[in-house]
Amino acid sequence: MKKISYKQYLALHNGAEILASDSFGEKVLRLKDGSIIKLFRTKRIISSALFYPYALRFVNNASKLKDMGISTVTVIDSYKIISIKRTAVHYKELEGDTLRNYIMHHSLNGDIAEKLAAFIARLHNEGVYFRSVHFGNLLITPDNSFGLIDIADMKIKSHSLNIGKRIRNFHHLTRYDIDRNSLKQQKEIFIREYLKICNFPHDNSKKLEENINAVLS
Ligand SMILES: Nc1ncnc2c1ncn2[C@@H]1O[C@H](COP(=O)(O)OP(=O)(O)O)[C@@H](O)[C@H]1O
Ligand SMILES: [Mg+2]
Repeated sequence: MKKISYKQYLALHNGAEILASDSFGEKVLRLKDGSIIKLFRTKRIISSALFYPYALRFVNNASKLKDMGISTVTVIDSYKIISIKRTAVHYKELEGDTLRNYIMHHSLNGDIAEKLAAFIARLHNEGVYFRSVHFGNLLITPDNSFGLIDIADMKIKSHSLNIGKRIRNFHHLTRYDIDRNSLKQQKEIFIREYLKICNFPHDNSKKLEENINAVLS
């Protein structure tokens, strides 16, 4: 992580568009050259974020996902801006629209539901446990495939996720009403495709089916 001064930060910031902010201030900026900076607060004095800053987690996750062939942003650099108690990751935008935005304009049809199920199954089978996996952090790319943004909060295991983790992750995927309500419309297709790709033995498959059904009821 590169230490930069507040002045250097302001130089990057010059002419930027604010993509997201919260009560603590700006969170995501699109710079003049189209690249994006995401800021993380260093929250408490005693916090795991002090030892393993979110910006670095983001960078490491991006690199692992790329190695696995899963679409995500391309990291340019990461920064520590001590004077404003922030770390930051600077990356190239992944072309596409968030799934949430896409659905607002096109609705969630069977084809997209099937592709989404296949993508989630792939993440689970390959050990990717992405707690922030809601429709605002899933990007649908121009070739109608999926990618991930906002990837600081993620664990990548060397083995596939167990049933319990999968079920928990379906709760994460559908934690916002707006996302859950659109997925509900295509739940048969979604569940069928997910289970087909996971190819679990009958009992596990049944358990998963019941649980995903419950999450989407
Ligand atoms: N790589 C990207 N490609 C396209 N849009 C992005 C990208 N990164 C961020 N955005 C936009 O900025 C928004 C906020 O970014 P995100 O990293 O999800 O921050 P947060 O959820 O913490 O506000 C996203 O929902 C999306 O609209
Ligand atoms: Mg987000």
